[in-house]
Amino acid sequence: MAALARSVLVTGSNRGIGLELVRQLAASPRPPQHIFATCRDPEGPRGKALQELAAQHSSIKLVQLDTVNLPSIQGAVWAVKSHLKDQGLNLLINNAGISSHATLRSLDSQEMLDVFATNVVGPLLVVKEFLPLLEQAAKSAGKEGLSCRRAAVINISTKLGSIGLCLGLPEAPMYPYRASKAAQNMVTRCLAAELQDKGILCVAIHPGWVKTDMGTEKAPLTVEHSVRGILTVLASLSQATSGAFLDWEGNSLPW
Ligand SMILES: NC(=O)c1ccc[n+]([C@@H]2O[C@H](COP(=O)([O-])OP(=O)(O)OC[C@H]3O[C@@H](n4cnc5c(N)ncnc54)[C@H](OP(=O)(O)O)[C@@H]3O)[C@@H](O)[C@H]2O)c1
Repeated sequence: MAALARSVLVTGSNRGIGLELVRQLAASPRPPQHIFATCRDPEGPRGKALQELAAQHSSIKLVQLDTVNLPSIQGAVWAVKSHLKDQGLNLLINNAGISSHATLRSLDSQEMLDVFATNVVGPLLVVKEFLPLLEQAAKSAGKEGLSCRRAAVINISTKLGSIGLCLGLPEAPMYPYRASKAAQNMVTRCLAAELQDKGILCVAIHPGWVKTDMGTEKAPLTVEHSVRGILTVLASLSQATSGAFLDWEGNSLPW
């Protein structure tokens, strides 16, 4: 089987789903040539697991990227560009995110804004700044159809951001988190519509409820299982699924 993509960038890859994405990509039989594993502090103690992984795989390049800090995003673009030369970036996975359990009683405007900054504004700015590299990859593939191998943006979303699935009284309203992911879903749809003529596919993926710091130990899915599913789904994406909202098993979800 061909490599999923020649080059992949993952945000928030020092733990949780992001770290496992990098681990499975690097260990795959046909790994990408460049895996840009980005996080806020790649040299510090929070990046330890990632540093150890990178020491085992020359394909992994650690890059500093704080998704709510524009100079940091722009610095990451330069770092990635210096490795890619003229080939462009094939696959951008916007995985970094934060949760919030604020209720109607406890929430305040700053918490809403902080969650929106990380879950909506950050991923959109990351796409904006990396767009020239994605366009370059899409162009160099010629007239090939849409795919992760050519050029793609994957936004890691959640079923909790689905307005269609939130009809009854939700178990946990989580206003900042759910509203931010619903907004991120709209961003995905707009990007899919705008970028498809440029040869760039955009999809939102729900990873399931996963055992990570965010998902907690109560979650039914292991991170290995979720990520195996996500990578299988990514390999299957095409023109027909651009602009879709899918779960880790490839099932379509209502927006
Ligand atoms: N786990 C679940 O059950 C579940 C379910 C649905 C959707 N998701 C989504 O899946 C994605 C990953 O979640 P997870 O479960 O792996 O969460 P996690 O274990 O809490 O990890 C979150 C990651 O995002 C990073 N991050 C947060 N803010 C950042 C910023 N400003 N810049 C760069 N990185 C930042 C964190 O870095 P630091 O270490 O520096 O904080 C960490 O690497 C999120 O988008 C989440 O909403 C998760």
